[in-house]
Amino acid sequence: MNRRRLLQIGSLGVGSIAITSKLFSSAKKITIGKKPLVVSTWGVGINANKAAWEILRKNGRALDAVEAGVMITEAEQDNCCVGLSAYPDRDGHVTLDASIMDEQGNAGSVAFLERIKHPISVARLVMEKTPHVMLVGSGAQQFAVEQGFALEDDKLSDSAKKAYEDWLKTSQYKPVMNIENSKGQNAFAPHRFANGAFNHDTIGMISLDAQGNLSGSCTTSGLAFKMRGRVGDSPIIGAGLFVDNEVGAAVSTGLGEEVMRVCGSHMVIEAMRHGASPEDACKLTVEKILRRKPSIKTDDIQVGFIAIDKNGNFGGYSIQKGFNYAVCYADDYNTLIDAKHLL
Ligand code: GLY
Repeated sequence: MNRRRLLQIGSLGVGSIAITSKLFSSAKKITIGKKPLVVSTWGVGINANKAAWEILRKNGRALDAVEAGVMITEAEQDNCCVGLSAYPDRDGHVTLDASIMDEQGNAGSVAFLERIKHPISVARLVMEKTPHVMLVGSGAQQFAVEQGFALEDDKLSDSAKKAYEDWLKTSQYKPVMNIENSKGQNAFAPHRFANGAFNHDTIGMISLDAQGNLSGSCTTSGLAFKMRGRVGDSPIIGAGLFVDNEVGAAVSTGLGEEVMRVCGSHMVIEAMRHGASPEDACKLTVEKILRRKPSIKTDDIQVGFIAIDKNGNFGGYSIQKGFNYAVCYADDYNTLIDAKHLL
């Protein structure tokens, strides 16, 4: 099947799975990748992968690896976008979202969680100890405290305090609908370093263990200076994260609203189920976002996906330049790869 044909198929979207199933089946070829394997978003993924790899190299479970891996990022002291050191919402509070899925399709998530250092571990306990998939806000916090998590101070890190004070100089303390169209700082724009590279906003991690089982995790503080109560894609199963042990695992990063509108990670998995490679499945999904919103320009909204399949193949794709992901499958292989991009 040539590239053009694949793009045509991509334009069908996830609603046309019956058709894509037929079309992809002619292209389906099994390629053997790496096992065990862990892949995570952005440069922070390198350190996170190291912790995950310590578990995978001893034939540990992918679920344990993806929890331990992202806990490293959650505990970082100077991280704008994950954990309690991250940038706050408009009211000056850090609110955290996280999700986790195991090889049996069990899922747990927390959203709008405050003052808890490791939301990913709370999400895992929601999955393992409650009949529910998702807990939010004060209920999630109450559950975390009942489970023995410490309630941390509601205090911004030095870097977050400075960034928040800078933001307050130019932005009204006032929720604004459609803020992306308003003047002044665009709170929905991706963070950028001075050198122009996109900053990470989420760590997502997906893994295949030595037993051939898949799991995934995702944790973030969401958009900096977001409206209070805003929840992104990361804790939404099927949007920010999806795992199907028969097929693969996928996780997203970037502007969560756009990911939620297409059930992004689920779409990646369904494309792989019907024969797309992990990279092509990620590409089809960012193309879907771009088709829905063709006005997206270079330097505008960023969304990226990473995916692995059941055979240990991996890939990623983003809308904009600047997205990268960390891949680890050996003691001496933990490398950052620049994702291909549409614009
Ligand atoms: N992708 C993270 C968020 O939008 O909250």
